[in-house]
Amino acid sequence: MSDEELRNMISLTLTCRIDQRENCSDKMEQFLKRCFYQSGQYNLEEGFSELDRKLKEKEAGKLPNRLFYLSIPPNIFVDVVRSASRTASSSSGWTRFIVEKPFGRDSESSGELTRSLKQYLDEEQIFRIDHYLGKELVENLSVLRFSNLVFEPLWSRNYIRNVQLIFSEDFGTEGRGGYFDNYGIIRDIMQNHLLQILALFAMETPVSLAAEDIRNEKVKVLRSMRKLRLDDVVVGQYKGHSKGGKSYPAYVDDPTVPSGSITPTFAAAAVFIDNARWDGVPFLMKAGKALHTRRAEIRVQFRRVPGNLYRRNIGTDLDKATNELVLRVQPDEAIYLKINNKVPGLGMRLDSSELNLLYSERYRREIPDAYERLLLDAMEGERRLFIRSDELDAAWAIFTPVLRELEERRVAPELYPYGSRGPVGAHYLAANYNVRWGDISSDT
Ligand code: BG6
Repeated sequence: MSDEELRNMISLTLTCRIDQRENCSDKMEQFLKRCFYQSGQYNLEEGFSELDRKLKEKEAGKLPNRLFYLSIPPNIFVDVVRSASRTASSSSGWTRFIVEKPFGRDSESSGELTRSLKQYLDEEQIFRIDHYLGKELVENLSVLRFSNLVFEPLWSRNYIRNVQLIFSEDFGTEGRGGYFDNYGIIRDIMQNHLLQILALFAMETPVSLAAEDIRNEKVKVLRSMRKLRLDDVVVGQYKGHSKGGKSYPAYVDDPTVPSGSITPTFAAAAVFIDNARWDGVPFLMKAGKALHTRRAEIRVQFRRVPGNLYRRNIGTDLDKATNELVLRVQPDEAIYLKINNKVPGLGMRLDSSELNLLYSERYRREIPDAYERLLLDAMEGERRLFIRSDELDAAWAIFTPVLRELEERRVAPELYPYGSRGPVGAHYLAANYNVRWGDISSDT
């Protein structure tokens, strides 16, 4: 590719933020002028020396910092880090590496990868990215908890009945099956995105907002979690389906997926944190592709009001009448709290209503993309939203035994139609813990 071709490619998606649209084309022009293309082999140092030479030309007279962003197949991470750190590190500024998942497939391979990276890099140079941590509502979790008097006192087994972490997509692997089939939904979404949200949700109050203080608390909560058991997992895979004259493919119809694959595209799991705050509270996770909707949310279901005076006015479904706090990460960012409210009028009928903070109504501003925030953080050396090695080890420790068992026993996934709500097994799993999935039992 020539520099020009690269610039043309970038310009197809380059934009200015809505509040910075003035002179947008000039700004884009200036930015594009600073983009260059350099080709080379991942595993050969010569290419990186050449890159170094080219960068030095541009850096002349300035303090050079270098940020490498590795969005490449994991089997070449180490080769690239070795060559880049040896021959293309900044001579007087900082050199950092953003690494995209997958960070290994299990505890062992992840540990091996970390050890290899650390032959060439210090922990402070490694920025393991999990883009869910860059999402606005996930960033807001700590604000909600630690900056409002009304939530933190309720944030424990004393008041919370269960917590649900839900991720669904309304499309399948669509050509990404080659990568996906090697990993499956548990590694693709649960072990990282959902578990990271859980850690932020459940951690104790950090000493400060400094990266190490927050990450210390996340490690603690992750290490207090029980290893996931096979009985607490349901796996599924989408099958072909026709609806409204249109037909949708099965996962195994994806030409990049090996035929007969039993890789899960859906999983539900019940996990537990064995510490004083969360003892006995089920945390239910659910993640799936090719479901009926695209959504990511955290649902907190509170206990029943003891001796509720209005039992009789609520109707028969007491569980439905409990308070529920929902943090909708996407789409349409929102935080809402379900409360029981009197239906206005004579007589006494209660209604489950909502205190609703809909971001698009409250904040008329563009919400940054997760990567926008995280790339900026990496440039500024802010590590709070990146995954430290010991966090990663603790995360893998929870999932590795069950992943191994699923693979060794070749557990067949429950098939669900493309565009459906997923396997019914997820309901039985939740029912084992007296839980009803909030996204299914409510209409919002
Ligand atoms: C990625 C997964 O990490 O997250 C994909 O590998 C998934 O399978 C994607 O589609 C979802 O991200 P978002 O931000 O679109 O919800």
